[in-house]
Amino acid sequence: MPTHNSDTAAEQRAAIERMFSAIVPRYDLLNRVLSAGRDRAWRRAAVRAVGPVRAGWLLDVCTGTADVALEAARQCPGARIAGVDFSGPMIAAGRAKVAAAGLPARIRLQVSAAEALPFADNIFDAATMAFGLRNLPDRRQGLREVLRVLRPGGRAAILEFTTPPSPVVLGLYRWYSRRVLSPLGRLVSGHRFAYDYLPASVADFPPPAGVTAWMEEAGFTDVSCRLLTCGIVAMHVGAKRSD
Ligand SMILES: C[S@@+](CC[C@H](N)C(=O)[O-])C[C@H]1O[C@@H](n2cnc3c(N)ncnc32)[C@H](O)[C@@H]1O
Repeated sequence: MPTHNSDTAAEQRAAIERMFSAIVPRYDLLNRVLSAGRDRAWRRAAVRAVGPVRAGWLLDVCTGTADVALEAARQCPGARIAGVDFSGPMIAAGRAKVAAAGLPARIRLQVSAAEALPFADNIFDAATMAFGLRNLPDRRQGLREVLRVLRPGGRAAILEFTTPPSPVVLGLYRWYSRRVLSPLGRLVSGHRFAYDYLPASVADFPPPAGVTAWMEEAGFTDVSCRLLTCGIVAMHVGAKRSD
């Protein structure tokens, strides 16, 4: 994603939206292939971390093609799920999957920016955001919004790629990103830079301690972080104060 210092947040957001909308047709396939199938386990872990939601509502922010929302429906059979994403084509693909799974009565997807969620305060029992935070021009605002719509005591799990702490894993990860992920992503998606943007945006993203600090600043309590798959993914969990 080419960005320039003069880019406004709105221009950046629009460019990121166009990029994600353009890669929808092969998005799921590339997730599976490029992560060697681990992406499913990461989403399962995020839903487990905020659950079980026995009744009520779970919110999935930056839902993409709704894989987390579908996983939440599987793990929490009594819950209903709302998913938001600013990309219309992502939401359309997600709705098709929700319909194919026979779940439109339980999973509602809508187009919305993460930084201005179209929901009242304190209504969700749990929230997830998988691989979305890195893409937000204003990450703090995205976290504040998640906290605002959570009910007191509700938990949120934020999954994000991170730079692995082990130098050996980091070396392999960089080699894989340069030699496999970017070229294969470009070939299969047909998009010129979306799969260069992925490793570049991960490299620019703060380490897990930075995300922990943002969550605490936003007002989350009991914030913790667990590294998954040799430290290439960080799962941040926090709760909304209940007193
Ligand atoms: C890497 S994808 C992750 C999608 C999904 N959560 C998953 O696990 O596959 C990031 C998603 O975030 C969405 N997104 C990025 N910035 C956003 C924003 N500011 N507001 C809402 N959605 C956003 C993109 O359209 C894209 O669908």
